[in-house]
Amino acid sequence: MVKYPIYWVAILLSICYSTSIANAEYLKYKDPKQPINARIRDLMSRMTLEEKIGQMTQIERSVASGDVMNKYFIGSVLSGGGSVPAAKASPEAWISMVNEFQQGSLSTRLGIPMIYGIDAVHGHNNVYKATIFPHNVGLGATRDPELVKRIGAATALEVRATGIPYVFAPCIAVCRDPRWGRCYESYSEDPKIVQEMTQIIPGLQGDIPHNSRKGVPFVGGQNKVAACAKHYVGDGGTTTGINENNTVIDFHGLLTTHMPGYYNAIINGVSTVMVSYSSWNGVKMHANYNLITGFLKNTLKFRGFVISDWQGLDRITSPPHANYSMSVLEGIHAGIDMVMVPYNYTEFISNLTSHVKDNHIPMSRIDDAVQRILRVKFQMGLFEHPLADNSQVHQLGSQEHREIAREAVRKSLVLLKNGKAAEKPMLPLPKKAPKILVAGSHADNLGNQCGGWTIEWQGLDGNNLTQGTTILKAIKKTVDPKTEVVYQENPDSNFVKSNKFSYAIVVVGERPYAETFGDSLNLTIAEPGYSTIKNVCGAVKCVVVVISGRPVVIEPYVSKMNALVAAWLPGSEGQGVADVLFGDYGFTGKSPRTWFKTVDQLPMNVGDPHYDPLFPFGFGLTTKPSKDY
Ligand SMILES: *[C@@H]1O[C@H](CO)[C@@H](O)[C@H](O)[C@H]1NC(C)=O
Ligand SMILES: *[C@@H]1O[C@H](CO)[C@@H](O)[C@H](O)[C@H]1NC(C)=O
Ligand SMILES: *[C@@H]1O[C@H](CO)[C@@H](O)[C@H](O)[C@H]1NC(C)=O
Ligand SMILES: *[C@@H]1O[C@H](CO)[C@@H](O)[C@H](O)[C@H]1NC(C)=O
Ligand SMILES: *[C@@H]1O[C@H](CO)[C@@H](O)[C@H](O)[C@H]1NC(C)=O
Ligand SMILES: *[C@@H]1O[C@H](CO)[C@@H](O)[C@H](O)[C@H]1NC(C)=O
Repeated sequence: MVKYPIYWVAILLSICYSTSIANAEYLKYKDPKQPINARIRDLMSRMTLEEKIGQMTQIERSVASGDVMNKYFIGSVLSGGGSVPAAKASPEAWISMVNEFQQGSLSTRLGIPMIYGIDAVHGHNNVYKATIFPHNVGLGATRDPELVKRIGAATALEVRATGIPYVFAPCIAVCRDPRWGRCYESYSEDPKIVQEMTQIIPGLQGDIPHNSRKGVPFVGGQNKVAACAKHYVGDGGTTTGINENNTVIDFHGLLTTHMPGYYNAIINGVSTVMVSYSSWNGVKMHANYNLITGFLKNTLKFRGFVISDWQGLDRITSPPHANYSMSVLEGIHAGIDMVMVPYNYTEFISNLTSHVKDNHIPMSRIDDAVQRILRVKFQMGLFEHPLADNSQVHQLGSQEHREIAREAVRKSLVLLKNGKAAEKPMLPLPKKAPKILVAGSHADNLGNQCGGWTIEWQGLDGNNLTQGTTILKAIKKTVDPKTEVVYQENPDSNFVKSNKFSYAIVVVGERPYAETFGDSLNLTIAEPGYSTIKNVCGAVKCVVVVISGRPVVIEPYVSKMNALVAAWLPGSEGQGVADVLFGDYGFTGKSPRTWFKTVDQLPMNVGDPHYDPLFPFGFGLTTKPSKDY
């Protein structure tokens, strides 16, 4: 007798269900119609410790393969600076590499997609033929958040064109000392400007929905990318600007100078936050529980994931990696969710696993980390769209994006001097002149013009690294066809005097650098920069264009110049410089930094009692567009 036939059917069915092969099974976490929280809960309930720790592991592409992804359940892969599938790799080659890793992840038991991340810090800068935008310091000079948002959107399209959904940008450091090698990655010494420039986040990720809860990560579809606010927190405040060093400031100072950008980043739905190598009052940020878990997660309600910097755990100890197991314990305890290992993932995985098994790290901490990582992956649609195709490759370095970069270059130029006393303004320059001189190490050199983080981590020298327009090329294109343009990189003064030049354009500055390699106590430009200025400006009317990531020593030479322009690190579109020099557009840029007279004044920021700048913060002469030629 069957008293409750429906129950029996149900029981039988559920037996069939639970024993059936996976692909016939309904998996709630794979159902995009389910709310994200339900998907996370369902997936978490299925995951082993090994699978969870795999999600927390980010490895470098050079040690990644489909098999490694599969065997260790790796949650993320990155390209370090300059790490590419092949020199001058095409977007198709990038896509096939990323997809190969992804196939390894998808073929695991639960099929959780990995997320691929890259430093796209001024455009998709590791990639051959990408549009290279001005570095952040130049964007700070534009004072144009709407433009910066468009740059974010263009960068997202170029990154997606290569099959990548995640960027380690923006850097929202507030650089308080230009001796820091990363000062050009900072929009300004003023936290308010940094806050405004966080508009790049909705550019990269898309605008958050109106009903969005504060702190919830948001990526608005397949033409957007997850962003990363970095480096949390105080990276720009280290002693004498030493990279990765100690930021000595009280809590109030930390909150009012270095933290404000994070408020805006979180309000804008930033998906991830990267921790700083630096220390705050002697405590390594990678081990700072109070600021990562206490403040960022609990007070600010940030619900995306926190990622370490490259070997950030190793550097908790001095020397680095002195006690890796202890570093893992401290970093994970502090609240880091994903670890940019990036090479020795077996060591990381085994050390973290031991800590969990020994109850040094509670399972609740692992679950917090994995939930956050999964939330970003679910929210951005990675489970539904794990693989890229070639349909967007045309976005890379497109003319439309180059026009945005050119506009940014125009608006980033800061005119510091225009004419000697009682002299007519020198700029804009006449396009029509019998013969003009272009000189300087940075006039015809894309590598110098783009700076660090371009193709290679440290940047490159010369013009064969990628596609773009040097300033010399732009000048030639802009002047009247009858104007003779003579180019000499470092002419002597006799040459300059013996030629009857109408005027000269001297383009000099810093050589490319990144991070610690850019730390400088003297802030001088590369020789023969100063001798080029002396040789040319003593002999003919000259405008000097300085290409640099920060204010540099210039005070002793300013009186020799008729005009001076700070062009920062403009990137691939040198045409933007010529557009403004020759008056097709006016100068509008305002200095995002204080320009010092001598380095012994440093640190010196706007509002300081000893403020005595060569050019103050916010300075910038203007010119009107000239249609006379
Ligand atoms: C800061 O730099 C000094 C000098 O190089 C070094 O001795 C010190 O250990 C550094 N401090 C930190 C926290 O990195
Ligand atoms: C690493 O640090 C832990 C915790 O402080 C300590 O017990 C251990 O002895 C250290 N290991 C080494 C090799 O110093
Ligand atoms: C990873 O770390 C372990 C332990 O420190 C070491 O034995 C091994 O050689 C390392 N592997 C690589 C590839 O560096
Ligand atoms: C950390 O990992 C390395 C490499 O696997 C291993 O030699 C070491 O014993 C581990 N330490 C702990 C505490 O698990
Ligand atoms: C650029 O040119 C230099 C010198 O000719 C050469 O050594 C280098 O390999 C070239 N780089 C690229 C990326 O083609
Ligand atoms: C200035 O400092 C840089 C970096 O520390 C160094 O390479 C350069 O030689 C110094 N220049 C002068 C003129 O001292």
